[in-house]
Parts: sequence; structure tokens; C-alpha cells
Amino acid sequence: MTTPPPLLSVEDLVVEYATPHGPHRAVDQVGFRLDRGGTLAVVGESGSGKSTIARALVRLLKPASGRILLDGTDIAALPERRLRPLRRRIQMVFQDPYGSLDPHLTAQQTVAEPLRAAGVSDKRERDRRAAELLDRVGLPTSALARRPGEFSGGQRQRIGIARALASSPDLLVCDEATSALDVSVQAQVLALLRELQADTGVAYLVIAHNLGIVRELSDEVVVLRSGRVVESGATADVLAAPREPYTRALRRAALDPTAIHGRKPRAALAVTASEVMASHVTTSEASA
Ligand SMILES: Nc1ncnc2c1ncn2[C@@H]1O[C@H](COP(=O)(O)OP(=O)(O)O)[C@@H](O)[C@H]1O
Ligand SMILES: [Mg+2]
Repeated sequence: MTTPPPLLSVEDLVVEYATPHGPHRAVDQVGFRLDRGGTLAVVGESGSGKSTIARALVRLLKPASGRILLDGTDIAALPERRLRPLRRRIQMVFQDPYGSLDPHLTAQQTVAEPLRAAGVSDKRERDRRAAELLDRVGLPTSALARRPGEFSGGQRQRIGIARALASSPDLLVCDEATSALDVSVQAQVLALLRELQADTGVAYLVIAHNLGIVRELSDEVVVLRSGRVVESGATADVLAAPREPYTRALRRAALDPTAIHGRKPRAALAVTASEVMASHVTTSEASA
């Protein structure tokens, strides 16, 4: 009996950006796997290549080399025509709740749009399903006809999640999806993500710099530094006893934002008191 392939297997992934000085390798020989219904966290300081991996997974970027196997099919090099039917299976929720929704569309139109692409040709059916999805992510009926400008950041992320779920994906890539939100709103969105996973069996690739989120959501974690994987394993193990000094520094950064490179980090590493609480770092661990 052969075991089925994992939902996602990334092997030797290399992604480069063209720059005036030649190609800049943002992701270098990265590999990881994610099972159906599981949650993998990707962590690393700002600039370590997390968003680049996310963009490669949804093929906003074409990798220079390596494989992205979705149920065993390599999507890294597929031409657009063959990629199209697979696109709906990996969806993304973006970091910026203010820039990621079309300001002209109502919430209902935003969520109905991918349903059209998924082949739901009847408009009434699309509207009905969009209303159902918005209800599912906790928005009231009165939200249906409203446009993004009328919603808070947390509500916009709920709309973004509903839109991503509209195409019944197998994998949702959440790129710092809650990091722009207030802590209490962040907690509500995390709870929603957990509920949705329990209901639908969708897998998550969660990109985060907040180790509290990593601890709360993920089974496995990959630690990135300068585009390379420096450590990976079960979240509980890696967070309890990180082997790499870099991982320890990231964890310290959850307590002291100046810990990495001794300089003030960009917003991505900014930390709140509740993150510190959430990462449960004991004094002995913090000084490790
Ligand atoms: N469009 C781009 N052109 C050139 N370099 C880029 C571009 N986007 C990101 N980079 C570079 O690639 C590296 C990884 O960036 P990114 O994936 O955004 O990191 P992260 O999401 O971990 O903060 C960084 O060195 C960044 O400066
Ligand atoms: Mg990023």
C-alpha cells in the first residue's frame, strides 16, 4: 500500500527577483511539507523571504527552480493554461486589510466574484452563497451591501477570509493576516480560523512573526533566515527548545524588539504586551 502524497510538498524552492544589480535570491533551496487539514507556520524576521514563498505558492511569482507539489502535481513550472484549474485550490489572505479589497465592490460582490470564476453561473446562487459565507465569518446581513470603506480592519479581514473560502480551497495561505489588527480583534480572527478549519478541513500556511500566533495555530513550524530554512519541526518542540541561535533570537524578539541585530525592527517585529504573554517565555528560556 502506498501512502498518498502530502497536500503540499515544497522541494528545493528558489525564487529570485530581477534587480538592476542582477538577480536577488530571496528564497534559497527551501523545503517543507503540509498535510491535508494541517497548519504549518513560517516565521522569520522582516526580509527573510516569507511573503516571497507565499507569492510563489499562489504563483504570483514563478520560481527560478524547485518543485511545488500540490497532491503530487508540480505547479511550480506549469504554464498558465494548465495552472488555471488548480489555482482555486490555494487561496491567500493578505496582510493589509485596507489595500487588499476592491473599494468599489460591496462585501457580497467581493465574495461572489470568485464563485463566478469557480463556475457558479447563476447570479442569484452566487449572491446566496456569498451571503452564507459572510454569515459564516461572523458578519451581519446588514454588511452585505456595504463597501470596504465602511468596515473596520478586523471586518475587512473577515471579508478577505470569506472571499478566499468561496472557491473551497484545500490550502489557505495567510500572510501576516492578523498582524495589522488590534490584539483583541486578532484573537477573534484566530478563533474564526480555527473554527473554519475544524468545519472544512482546509489546511493553513500561516506566515507570522508573532510566536504567540504560531503556538496557537500551527502543528509544525519552519524558521527562515535570509531565504533559507534554519530550523523546522513540531511547533511545541521548536518553541520549547530551539536549536538555532537565530530561533532563540526571534523568540527573544517577542520580549525585546531590539534583540535582532541590536536595532529597532520594522513594524513586522513590533511586539505587544499580549504577544509576550502569549509566548509564555520563562525567564530561563528568555536568557537561553
Ligand atoms: N519586488 C521585489 N524586488 C526585489 N526584491 C524584493 C522584492 N520583494 C521582496 N524583495 C526582497 O526579497 C527578500 C525577501 O522579501 P519578503 O519575501 O518580502 O520577506 P518577508 O515577507 O519575510 O518580510 C528581501 O530581501 C526583500 O528586500
Ligand atoms: Mg512579508
